[in-house]
Amino acid sequence: MQVPEGEVTAWRQTYESLPQWLKDLYRWARYPEFRVRNRVARAMKRCSSDTDRLRLAEFLVGRQFPELFYGDGPKLWCRDAAFRDWYLRCVEPINMRSMERKWFIRELLKLVAHVPGDTAECGVYEGATSQLICEGTQRNCGKTHFGFDSFEGLSQPESSDGSHWSTGDLTAPQELATALLQPYRATLLKGWIPDRFEEVADRRFSFVHLDVDLAAPTRQSLEFFYPRLNPGGILVCDDYGYETCPGAYEACNTFFSDKGEPWIHAPTGQGFVIRQPD
Ligand SMILES: C[S@@+](CC[C@H](N)C(=O)[O-])C[C@H]1O[C@@H](n2cnc3c(N)ncnc32)[C@H](O)[C@@H]1O
Repeated sequence: MQVPEGEVTAWRQTYESLPQWLKDLYRWARYPEFRVRNRVARAMKRCSSDTDRLRLAEFLVGRQFPELFYGDGPKLWCRDAAFRDWYLRCVEPINMRSMERKWFIRELLKLVAHVPGDTAECGVYEGATSQLICEGTQRNCGKTHFGFDSFEGLSQPESSDGSHWSTGDLTAPQELATALLQPYRATLLKGWIPDRFEEVADRRFSFVHLDVDLAAPTRQSLEFFYPRLNPGGILVCDDYGYETCPGAYEACNTFFSDKGEPWIHAPTGQGFVIRQPD
């Protein structure tokens, strides 16, 4: 790709404005790891502001994982104390890896506030996202939430799923989800997808969250829930944009190849569709 002259100048201007220690690091970035490491250690000592520390973190991430990057920051939503507190209590006390996805679900739920229909999650695990869905949809309305999970982990991957997952990964005891969902109108249906779908066959839905990592249960969930999704309803696939879940990506795109709705591929890795009227 040819870079227009203006953009080269803009980058040079940005580069010139960097502190000298960061310029040095960029110069050293093409040297072998052990030679850069000393420089990084020295740079760490010289970081005296949040901006400098963020730049150093950005440099390190870029060096170790060239395809990853830091977005612009800091962002307002990261400072939402109540949400952070909920995440650390109910999702993951150590890392924040799925925090942006959880936040995005929370925001998408606002779009279905006036769409009639119940809610569902395929792949409940410990229940955190199901709880988020109940919390976001059950105030002042009569929606019921249905959660489907083997509670024995993943089923058998097929060839399109690649090699990342194995049968039985991500097993969680049902009691955790049951406890988290106890204050809500929520029913957990334990079993292998699609065995228990028939029990909600007469229902319509406004929000469905698919998070089963593999092609077969993703495909079966789409086949069941898409025709039952009300216009304006949203279907989210948590696994849509992950390199670890190629089968789920393929299942989503194949199923929608003859449907009118486009998949929206979010930068969080999730994909979602908004159901259009027939
Ligand atoms: C990534 S976890 C779900 C995480 C959850 N949605 C959350 O946000 O916390 C995947 C779940 O899918 C379930 N699962 C995978 N394949 C399944 C299948 N074929 N039938 C039923 N459950 C399945 C696993 O037991 C596991 O709990």
